[in-house]
Amino acid sequence: MEVVIAREDEIGELIADEIAGLLADRPDAVLGVATGSSPLRVYEALARRVDAGETSLARARAFTLDEYVGLPPGHPARYDAVIREEFVARVDIDPAAVRGPDGDADDLDDACHRYEEAIRDAGGVDLQILGIGTDGHIAFNEPGSSLASRTRVKTLTAQTRLDNARFFAGDLDAVPRHCLTQGLGTILEARRVVLVATGEAKAQAVAQLVEGAVSARWPGTVLQHHPDVTVFADEAAASRL
Ligand code: GLP
Repeated sequence: MEVVIAREDEIGELIADEIAGLLADRPDAVLGVATGSSPLRVYEALARRVDAGETSLARARAFTLDEYVGLPPGHPARYDAVIREEFVARVDIDPAAVRGPDGDADDLDDACHRYEEAIRDAGGVDLQILGIGTDGHIAFNEPGSSLASRTRVKTLTAQTRLDNARFFAGDLDAVPRHCLTQGLGTILEARRVVLVATGEAKAQAVAQLVEGAVSARWPGTVLQHHPDVTVFADEAAASRL
């Protein structure tokens, strides 16, 4: 596991450069994209490169990590809506080539199974962008998640619902209790992983991720088993290393 400490805007540029390099080699690369504030600078930096004609995602494909269960169509906090606004709308990727787990499905277990198949059929994820929760979760793999888990239904912890209430106008009751998420085992199959963590609130999660024992208590620690991970942290997020 490599650790890069840089300013948030520099992190965005570094990862966008890496994605542009991947696309130069493989225009139809498969990206794993994440919601949340952490990857926003990456998407902005990537959009600048697309606008400048330096790279293109026209042939790329993308898979999201997770989705809430039970949010009505059109709800702005649905991760499908978020990723379309923050990533898809900014770059030149084909909207039909971006897919997430189906939180509306009648049979959620079947939806999870189909999502795993879709990732496999695409040849797997070349580069996965991740954030990390304050409790160490990646995607929505909350503490206690099996380190070998696959895409499945999860119950959100009180901490994550509290952290994410800001996307529901601060109304904790409006935050769903369940989600679909790629499992830790699913994420580990990405060929390359870049994780972004910024701000003091992430310092403990980053310290555990990098220096803690691998444990379901801090799900991100499973990335220590991945052969090609870089953690990009700003000074505040790296302050407990
Ligand atoms: C959410 C998402 C994660 C994300 C995390 C951190 O719960 N499911 O994929 O990494 O929160 O979010 P942020 O980057 O906004 O701090």
